[in-house]
Amino acid sequence: MRSTHDDVLKVLISEDEISKRVGEIAVQIDEYYSKSDKKLLLLGILKGSVVFMAELMKRIEIPVEIDFMKVSSYGGSTVSSKNLTILLDLNRKNLEENDVLIVEDIIDSGRTLSYLVDYIKLKGAASVRTCTLLDKPSRREVDFLPDFCGFTIPDEFVIGYGLDFDEKYRALPYVGILKPELYEKR
Ligand code: PRP
Repeated sequence: MRSTHDDVLKVLISEDEISKRVGEIAVQIDEYYSKSDKKLLLLGILKGSVVFMAELMKRIEIPVEIDFMKVSSYGGSTVSSKNLTILLDLNRKNLEENDVLIVEDIIDSGRTLSYLVDYIKLKGAASVRTCTLLDKPSRREVDFLPDFCGFTIPDEFVIGYGLDFDEKYRALPYVGILKPELYEKR
């Protein structure tokens, strides 16, 4: 049987390293929001954020609510598109009662989060902050800095822990670098 692990050139961030770092971020989030009288809403951006979101929400100790949005950006290529479309919107009443923390797997050009922060503010959230597992600052096209970040990584084609290539590899328990021949031959 062919395993998805066989397509990985190298493990960039191991399962243990991710687990330790997620615990540290959860502590930072607990400290940051424990002073607020609003309800914390973790807003995961589908699909890449699901693994990080599931781990993070278990490790945060203050009460959290969760919700999800889906926006399109990449399609099936390695190059990010500049057009964003909302495919699943956030439909909640009384968003002014929520501190919203947008949860992402990765920031690349910065366009998705830059757009979403403004969008959620316009919807009337009490506050809007961002949390990403991975950040690739070398790929930025718009200025954007996350409030909470797991790892800053180089410009490699990463997969696993929610991140896909052509919808594959999301279930890998670590962040790995995909073998270049798998995307270069497309
Ligand atoms: C990825 C990632 C972010 C976005 C980051 O999503 O999850 O949402 O791209 O890129 P940016 O900083 O250039 O905007 P993708 O569109 O691949 O969808 P997915 O999460 O469903 O895999």
